[in-house]
Amino acid sequence: MNQIDWKNLPFGYFKTDYNVRCYYHDGQWGELEISSSELISMHMAATCLHYGQEAFEGLKAFRGKDGKIRIFRMDENWKRMNNSARGIMMAEVPWELFHKAVLTVVKLNEKYIPPYGEGASLYIRPLLIGTGPQVGVKPAEEYMFLVFAGPVGPYFKEGFNPVKMEIVRDYHRAAPKGTGHIKVGGNYAASLVPAHRAHQDGYASVLFLDAAEEKYIDEAGPANFFGIKGNTYVTPSSRSILPSITNKSLQELAKEIGMKVEVRPVPVEELAEFDEVGACGTAAVISPICSIIDRDTTHGYHYCKESKAGEISTRLYKKLRAIQEGEEPDKYGWITIVE
Ligand code: PLP
Ligand code: COI
Repeated sequence: MNQIDWKNLPFGYFKTDYNVRCYYHDGQWGELEISSSELISMHMAATCLHYGQEAFEGLKAFRGKDGKIRIFRMDENWKRMNNSARGIMMAEVPWELFHKAVLTVVKLNEKYIPPYGEGASLYIRPLLIGTGPQVGVKPAEEYMFLVFAGPVGPYFKEGFNPVKMEIVRDYHRAAPKGTGHIKVGGNYAASLVPAHRAHQDGYASVLFLDAAEEKYIDEAGPANFFGIKGNTYVTPSSRSILPSITNKSLQELAKEIGMKVEVRPVPVEELAEFDEVGACGTAAVISPICSIIDRDTTHGYHYCKESKAGEISTRLYKKLRAIQEGEEPDKYGWITIVE
């Protein structure tokens, strides 16, 4: 293996040595298989190819200062994957299988876990797909559960440096009663065109609004949105937002440092009242936002003094990273140590 430049890793696909797979057939899951192939073979009429029966997850493993490997909140990713499975009528994955698959992938690819202090981590990608054939619009009878992993750096190239985002109204990520609350591929397909346009125009991401009224903030591309107003952490509630595990964790940490937490609809105009705003997610961790530009009105909302992240965002970021890397005690039971 060539030396990996851990400090300059992008957030992207990285070939490692092994992945694991399991097949659902005749109403039950088989044995977990280890594979060193990057390819999968499937029926050309598989429902994941035609009707979007596909859900994925994203979680991370970290190398701590003490050398131990820590996986962050994997039970939450398991619950969300099964929520996605129910949302598009796929077979659910039992906890024992999910747990074993994630641990096996992490252990088998241990040499790809970035060393402590490089600002990188091992990104773990569970995938659940309908592999059985259908031509009528119906759920498959066969499924495949697969987990691969690879080292990654920050999702937004700016890392913890503030990014710019744009509010759009000519595209919606998810319909009000659609699939925005589950992690299925179609939501990401719907975001590709506006995200591409935003990147071309110099923005890190799009800030999507609620599709019913276009009045409230939904989420920040592949991450949730939060704002800090005085001593309050505010984050949108909406049926079409993906419930972020990072956001849920930040809410706990905000309470721990004595802040109030409000989860409620956030009207666009309220952007003018926040002291700090940011995007949060497994891939994004916390991405502080320095400017939000409304594409229609060209009105801008600006944050960050001297292009630096705000004080509270920085505190929350450091606290989260400290738990993930084992520098702060795991008092919430969020960590699985890989033995
Ligand atoms: N929102 C969307 C649309 C996402 O894809 C993600 C990533 O998983 C998030 C939010 C953040 O969720 P989490 O913190 O669980 O990674
Ligand atoms: C994550 O944060 O895990 C994501 O899934 C975001 C993106 C890569 C889809």
